[in-house]
Amino acid sequence: MANYKIAIIVGSLRKDSLNRRIARSICALRGDNLDCQMVEIGDLPLYNQDYDLQRQQPEPFVRFREQVGAADGILFCTPEYNRGVPGVLKNAIDVGSRPYGRSVWDQKPAAIVSASPGSIGGFGANHQLRQACVFLNMPVMQQPEAYLGHVSDDSFDEDGCLKEGPLKDLVTKLAHAFHDWVETILRARELLAHDAARAERAAKRAQPV
Ligand code: FNR
Repeated sequence: MANYKIAIIVGSLRKDSLNRRIARSICALRGDNLDCQMVEIGDLPLYNQDYDLQRQQPEPFVRFREQVGAADGILFCTPEYNRGVPGVLKNAIDVGSRPYGRSVWDQKPAAIVSASPGSIGGFGANHQLRQACVFLNMPVMQQPEAYLGHVSDDSFDEDGCLKEGPLKDLVTKLAHAFHDWVETILRARELLAHDAARAERAAKRAQPV
């Protein structure tokens, strides 16, 4: 099975973030063929469109865009703040989307996980993020949906791994589905490029000399 580079973006800066621990669990479950890298967003200055006019971009913007750009796929794990996406994550989305025409999100397969101690599992943030991904031309995995509710410190063992139970079962399913999703999108794209190249060669051969 192919090994894909996955950029993980966590929408919480909290040291003991539940979402960060969920993200780590997904990596641990598919460590054999998902090569995961946490891409930090806490040091990104607030996006300001004036930056796009400058030759010199803020160093954290450059680092962030390079890390996201090099990934085969993106995994978002985010809390919900006031029924929406935390500001720090929305800022990262905006930073990656600009300068205009050079978005690093374009065409990247993605999955969105939201986790909360509350009962609706960050549904609002999850779908707000999906809305941005539509505009950013990112194919987002549809199933299994991951609104992880009732997540707490008690969901994890001393090593920070998910304890056995329905939450771990869902996250395991999700980790497998995400690998297959990234593979489906990237292979489909490769096949289409291959077909297009073959059609172009055939068209050239058919031209009268
Ligand atoms: C929250 N929390 C929260 N939870 C939720 O399910 N829906 C919500 O709208 C909100 N709103 C909200 C706003 C703000 C400003 C804070 C600080 C918190 C609670 C939140 O889910 C909880 O703190 C999680 O533990 C945050 O995720 P991390 O940091 O553990 O990943």
